[in-house]
Amino acid sequence: MKFFIDTANVEEIRKANQLKILDGVTTNPTLIAKVKKPFMEVVKEILSEVPNKPVSLEVASTDAEGMIREGEKLAELGSNVVIKIPITEEGLKAVVHFERNGIKTNVTLVFSPAQALLAMKAGASFISPFVGRLDDISHTGMDLIKQIKQIKDNYGFKSEIIVASVRNPIHVIESAIAGADIATIPYSVIAQLIKHPLTDIGLERFLKDWESVPEKPF
Ligand code: G3P
Repeated sequence: MKFFIDTANVEEIRKANQLKILDGVTTNPTLIAKVKKPFMEVVKEILSEVPNKPVSLEVASTDAEGMIREGEKLAELGSNVVIKIPITEEGLKAVVHFERNGIKTNVTLVFSPAQALLAMKAGASFISPFVGRLDDISHTGMDLIKQIKQIKDNYGFKSEIIVASVRNPIHVIESAIAGADIATIPYSVIAQLIKHPLTDIGLERFLKDWESVPEKPF
């Protein structure tokens, strides 16, 4: 299972990269706005931190022509740039255009199996179902992942499933159990994945007991 980080904060990307568990980066307009820096500055910083891993950058136009214009500009920034496109009629047209021209796409804001099926048929390299936002409205987000995985396997679609809107470690583990290809995870959740209170208590005790061991070699 691949881990992407869901952030536009280059410090967070660097920290995750240092752990050697990072396979890619996803951003969206909200995450870019949070860093309060000029767009191109942020994007160049991210691409220099992860020059060889997929980095999803989202278009802001809502018509296919505009999406294609923006996406082509973004794709020039690096061969690892993936164009993130919302699932709409216009978005699907742009997905087909990019994929036919060898530019990878990530179809975002996917909330139903029907939307996922269409994105897979359009040839998207990645699709991003949002689990947290479904949980927020009392739908079980993880059910959507299971359904999409089943559809993908039934027909052998190549699109990789990126579980997005990940809010906690349980989302990550359930994604792995469901066989999702990727989870895109905020840095805070990556940190949570490492931690366990019994690890902290156990380590504290080992270190305390170690103090009383006589003639230690180190
Ligand atoms: O990748 C999509 C993700 O950033 C959305 O997360 O927490 O805003 O629902 P959230």
